[in-house]
Amino acid sequence: EVVEAGGQVLLPGFVDLHTHLREPGREDTETIESGSAAAALGGYTAVFAMANTSPVADSVVITDHVWRRGQEVGLVDVHPVGAVTVGLAGKQLAEMATMASGVGKVKMFSDDGHCVDDPLIMRRALEYSSSLGVLIAQHAEEPRLTVGAVAHEGPTAARLGLAGWPRAAEESIVARDALLARDAGARVHICHASTAGTVELMKWARGQGISITAEVTPHHLLLDDSRLETYDAVNKVNPPLRERSDVEALRKGLAEGVIDCVATDHAPHAEQDKCCEFSAARPGMLGLETALAIVAQTMVEPGLLDWRGVAKVMSERPAEIVGLTDQGRPIAVGEPANLTLVDPQREWTVRGPELASIAANTPFEAMTFAARVTTTLLRGRVTVRDGQVQR
Ligand code: DOR
Ligand code: ZN
Ligand code: ZN
Ligand code: ZN
Repeated sequence: EVVEAGGQVLLPGFVDLHTHLREPGREDTETIESGSAAAALGGYTAVFAMANTSPVADSVVITDHVWRRGQEVGLVDVHPVGAVTVGLAGKQLAEMATMASGVGKVKMFSDDGHCVDDPLIMRRALEYSSSLGVLIAQHAEEPRLTVGAVAHEGPTAARLGLAGWPRAAEESIVARDALLARDAGARVHICHASTAGTVELMKWARGQGISITAEVTPHHLLLDDSRLETYDAVNKVNPPLRERSDVEALRKGLAEGVIDCVATDHAPHAEQDKCCEFSAARPGMLGLETALAIVAQTMVEPGLLDWRGVAKVMSERPAEIVGLTDQGRPIAVGEPANLTLVDPQREWTVRGPELASIAANTPFEAMTFAARVTTTLLRGRVTVRDGQVQR
């Protein structure tokens, strides 16, 4: 339920299906504590912490730690994502049932950061997942198609000679996994859809009655490959920034519901891993604190979504996709609320060092946005008031 009050917009607390919090292993770039603060400031009441930590979240020891630490911090529910295989891109399925029944109750498994490229492993993962009632989220990059690929495929990246990951690397996995999900009677979720072709494949798969869902990131809704002209690795991300026509197709796909939701792929990296030569830099960018502002600018302002639609793509659909029953829905009278208040006219300028994330590099540096999250409530407790975290 969306209620407008005092010029602000009241929305259900946001749910991010795709966040990298770097704990354990890279606490110099983000921790569950710093990432929770960033999430609350971004209006989130639940985030799904990706499994490509060090060690990888392929056992209940790690997934339970992530959940418990998130509850201890108390700013946002940090739902652990389990790895599909033992180790990223492993050859053996992880103990999904054990992780699903742990304290952290893992609802989603993914090898994000490294696609489950082996179709037989993906088929077994999908079959297993449907019997457990969990979701497999696919990073959608066929790694054999990125080897020696000249470019991100856009004319800009090609001219610049930047290595990247061609459209076919993403789209072939989307098509493959749609078919595997159909035959396994399972559901699959496509992470960070980035091409017009993926939107077309999603339409096709939905038309076939296949249970497939997809997310798009704020950066793929806003930025295109013209950003690569500067060779600044702050713009390096997987999947890469694509052409303007892809950006338009993704916006339209999200507006029409072909793409279900927005997910940040919040991926903090240390300064030394981003301020180096493009090919040596790590892919990924901050996302939690700027997501709503970008959705407002790219979707609400041009009239592609109204605020009711924002509630859907930021909260209701992601909660539904992963089966969260305490998020993304209207609250009954007397029930503790997960809510976010947005001021659509509170202009602000992004300053990386001022963000709550430990990593400070962002492609949105110095950009000015109109909309800002002012207040967030987690189960009735104010976690953010006037843009300040309430610890
Ligand atoms: O840009 C990305 N960064 N894409 C991924 O798939 C992984 C992520 C990360 O962990 O840094
Ligand atoms: Zn692989
Ligand atoms: Zn990914
Ligand atoms: Zn990711």
